[in-house]
Amino acid sequence: MQQQQFYSCSCYCTDNLFLQDYKLHVRFGSEEQFRTDYHSILRSLGCSTELQFSNVLQTIHAEIERRRNLEADSAERKAAIKEKYRPLHQHVYCLQESYLTPEFLQIVKYCQSDGATQEGLMKLIHSEAAPRVYRFPIFTKNFCRDLIEELEHFEESDAPKGRPNTMNNYGILLNELGFDEGLITPLRERYLRPLSALLYPDCGGQWLDSHKAFVVKYAMNEDLDLSYHYDNAEVTLNVSLGKDFTEGNLYFGDMKEVPLSETECAEVEHRVTEAVLHRGQQMHGALPISSGLRWNLIIWMRASRHRNRLCPMCGRTPGLQPSRGHGDGFTAGAGDADGWSCALT
Ligand SMILES: [Fe+2]
Repeated sequence: MQQQQFYSCSCYCTDNLFLQDYKLHVRFGSEEQFRTDYHSILRSLGCSTELQFSNVLQTIHAEIERRRNLEADSAERKAAIKEKYRPLHQHVYCLQESYLTPEFLQIVKYCQSDGATQEGLMKLIHSEAAPRVYRFPIFTKNFCRDLIEELEHFEESDAPKGRPNTMNNYGILLNELGFDEGLITPLRERYLRPLSALLYPDCGGQWLDSHKAFVVKYAMNEDLDLSYHYDNAEVTLNVSLGKDFTEGNLYFGDMKEVPLSETECAEVEHRVTEAVLHRGQQMHGALPISSGLRWNLIIWMRASRHRNRLCPMCGRTPGLQPSRGHGDGFTAGAGDADGWSCALT
């Protein structure tokens, strides 16, 4: 079978640039536009001198440069890892049903049964205080332990490492390590898509056809928390893998279009071995851990049929940039059976 060509949106190099020091997402089209749009906001956030402002500009230029080179750098790292790195636990790269909890298998089996309904599913799945956020045990303790050991083994190796995304400084891009083919893709296709199809048909849950998967690490002297944001995803799976930590709950607000002033946030406890499933465009964040070390597996799942019409990150028709991997999950091209002509929301 010919592999699907995926694309990114050109907004990746201009929009949603995160300024960690001011906890602010910005858009950078030109220096003039940036100054007009953000000078006074930044000033109110403590960026009061010209020197501080020029430091911000420097940070932005460096981030844009990183994003421009991202695909080439990532491919280079992936090749180097394949050549040099020797896994500790080879088995965690290939999904086995025994890694999944009986509860999760039962949930998926129900979703695939004739006449499955959302109401029926609610008897098997934990519905959170936040709207349409669900929690369920997914992986066995043993699998979580082995996966963390593998990730720590990789971290300690001298293999090259990339950053998972703009907001997390510590973590691993699973695609570079070779997890996509054997673990994440089958997990998405066989298990998470049937579940998402029933829970999120209005967000393209039945059409999830690509993903970006990474693990993020929270530790006392590294990242402690994650600011309020939305994901570049239709549906997000967030699994707490361990190890031992205190506090650090997730919190959820409303969809990104709703102003914060009209939003009531709800906390969701995240227990080890459990997954939290939510719409990518629902605002959320992670509260700081107060001790210990936490690893989370995040899978941003995308549905090209859903997003081809409108890029969720810039809200415009996507400016398609070919990608050698999954890109940002857009597809194009007439005659493509999975194309965008029947996009529904
Ligand atoms: Fe997120």
